[in-house]
Amino acid sequence: MSSRHHLVIVTGANRGFGASIAHSYVKHSGASSVSFVLVGRDKQGLDTVLSELKHSVNTSNNHVAVKGTVVANVDLADISILDDSLARIHAAAAQLRTEAAQSNSAITKSVLFNNAGSLGDLGKTTKEVTWQDARRYFDFNVVSFVGLSSTFLKETQAAFPNDQYPQHQTVIVNISSLLAVQPFSNWGLYATGKAARDRLLGVVALEEKENNVKTLNYAPGPLDNMMQADVRRTLGDKEQLEIYEDMHQKGSLVAMDDSSRKLVLLLEKDEFASGGHIDFYDE
Ligand SMILES: NC(=O)c1ccc[n+]([C@@H]2O[C@H](COP(=O)([O-])OP(=O)(O)OC[C@H]3O[C@@H](n4cnc5c(N)ncnc54)[C@H](OP(=O)(O)O)[C@@H]3O)[C@@H](O)[C@H]2O)c1
Repeated sequence: MSSRHHLVIVTGANRGFGASIAHSYVKHSGASSVSFVLVGRDKQGLDTVLSELKHSVNTSNNHVAVKGTVVANVDLADISILDDSLARIHAAAAQLRTEAAQSNSAITKSVLFNNAGSLGDLGKTTKEVTWQDARRYFDFNVVSFVGLSSTFLKETQAAFPNDQYPQHQTVIVNISSLLAVQPFSNWGLYATGKAARDRLLGVVALEEKENNVKTLNYAPGPLDNMMQADVRRTLGDKEQLEIYEDMHQKGSLVAMDDSSRKLVLLLEKDEFASGGHIDFYDE
């Protein structure tokens, strides 16, 4: 079988769902080699995840050749350093592409997981949200997302022009939410940000369909993790709070690894409609 060497960029890879995506990618993607660019603010967390990944095995218990770099101190909420952050991320990706070519194991697929995200203040309803709150929130959750996605497309297509590398696949994933497609009280900024991200990748799917590019908006379900603990601590809507408390107490929140496995298997099967929105609970 020919080598399947994937270049995988994950934002917010130091913990939570980002780390889980990276682990599931090694296990379930079917790649024989994975070169990771792990992006985040916390160097120690990123280093730990990378070293764990290097010792992973896949579902057939085969060792997967994992290489990678961490790009730390990337604060995606700080637009004043966004150009520099994007340049550092893509320099790291370029270096891994060069190493792959030199070791005769060229990259066959490039994947960007736009995972990093924040909740905003769920104590507030929209009439309490200021435009300054909105601007801060969208800088991180939308503006940096656009920058990451567009730079990734440009850099990847420059490295693998379609006429010379027709087999090379490019995939952009948005870690989305049910809120992108259904409104709930107190989630104004979060829902607006996720809807914007979904729609951008819908547009990209159309613009790039001739270039072997696919996009996917994946809603991972209510995850049993720190972000959910923050939801239970801060959400101002009583009715929803009771639902989340109840799920937590009954143990029915979604395990991160179950959700990230579903995502990676969707990518591996490659039957999803580009630009669409798929939820963990979908068939
Ligand atoms: N948890 C859920 O139930 C749930 C449900 C639906 C969708 N999602 C989505 O899943 C994605 C991952 O969330 P999670 O559940 O893993 O949440 P989390 O545990 O709060 O992790 C968020 C990640 O984003 C990073 N991050 C936060 N602010 C950042 C910044 N300014 N610059 C760069 N990175 C930053 C965090 O890094 P630090 O360690 O540096 O803070 C962390 O790696 C998010 O997009 C979220 O909206 C989550």
